[in-house]
Amino acid sequence: MFPDIVRAALGERVRPVPIWFMRQAGRFLPEYRDLRSRHGFAELMSVPGLAAEVSMQPVRRFDLDAAIIFSDILVVLQAMGVDIRFDPGPILPRFDLADVNGLKRFDPDAVHWQYDAVCELRSRLESSKAVIGFTGGPFTLSAYLTGRPGNSFADTRRLMKQDQAGFNQLLKRIADATAEHLLKQAHAGADMLMVFDSWASLLSPQTFKTQVRPVTLRMLRQLKGRTGKPLIYFVNGMHHLLDLIADFPVNVIGVDHRTPMKDAVKKLGKRFTMQGNLEPSDLFLPGELLGKRIDSVLEQADPARGHIFNLGHGILPETPLDAVEFLVQRVRSRA
Ligand code: CP3
Repeated sequence: MFPDIVRAALGERVRPVPIWFMRQAGRFLPEYRDLRSRHGFAELMSVPGLAAEVSMQPVRRFDLDAAIIFSDILVVLQAMGVDIRFDPGPILPRFDLADVNGLKRFDPDAVHWQYDAVCELRSRLESSKAVIGFTGGPFTLSAYLTGRPGNSFADTRRLMKQDQAGFNQLLKRIADATAEHLLKQAHAGADMLMVFDSWASLLSPQTFKTQVRPVTLRMLRQLKGRTGKPLIYFVNGMHHLLDLIADFPVNVIGVDHRTPMKDAVKKLGKRFTMQGNLEPSDLFLPGELLGKRIDSVLEQADPARGHIFNLGHGILPETPLDAVEFLVQRVRSRA
């Protein structure tokens, strides 16, 4: 028997609606901050017992439907030989397109601890709950390698026009690495797989269509049919890209909070399960207003092929724990 959230991902109407939160394993939890005061971020993620513990923390506290493995999207680049440090935000060396040929072939042994952590987490978690494995999307990872978020990846956006062929080479190398990374997590026991293409919305529909969509499809097609595990695709700020992802070979679209859920349902809701999309800052509203916002998300998503409740992006570090408890109870009360 699949966990409820997996059945919802595969298109079933599951009530109450399954629920988890992006960035749930992290700083909004006192038990995470406590562990983090004793261990560095890189240590927490690379010691399987610690990573599994951090992943379990939010599930234990709120009885959520899934645990996401505690790691980072950028470890794929580490496994291609890039020297990345976390402090706790990522620090990457300078990289330009002439360096693409110097990237190593993705070496899963360099990040075996992530697969060990998936395995450990799967053995600790109740079978009614799902383990989510993840990776970054090819564009988002290429952006971290060639630019930085502080100026909205201006260097990346310049490079991808100045040297389309070189940038495409980079995207392809990363697409193949991320597909392999997800397959490894699936084989280690992940029940669902998520692609965080968080920054793809920086691009116009035209640029996404010609330079990013083909290579993203290349990655997704390497997974489809090879694991049987549902796939989730997420872009933060995807409203202008909805038509261009409408035929992606995935099961679930992660809808961000700037995209009205009803628009996503109208364009994509017949083919995909919708995941999302409460605005993370709504958790700072007084109870009754928060309740209305939750109900509105549930109502808008109701006509879709399936729904998994989530926020539209990561949970904010200062989020009050009682608001999270209220949210979970509210969603669970709509049986
Ligand atoms: O609950 C989870 O989602 C845990 C696993 C997870 C982390 N990062 C842990 C983490 C996941 C799925 C990610 C994804 C990630 N990492 C993304 C895509 C998702 C998104 O937010 O759009 C991106 C862009 C990154 C890159 C990254 N890693 C950044 C920008 C930072 C700094 C974050 C910050 O707010 O300081 C990290 C470090 C990081 N990754 C932390 C965590 C919990 C912070 C570590 C700490 O402060 O202890």
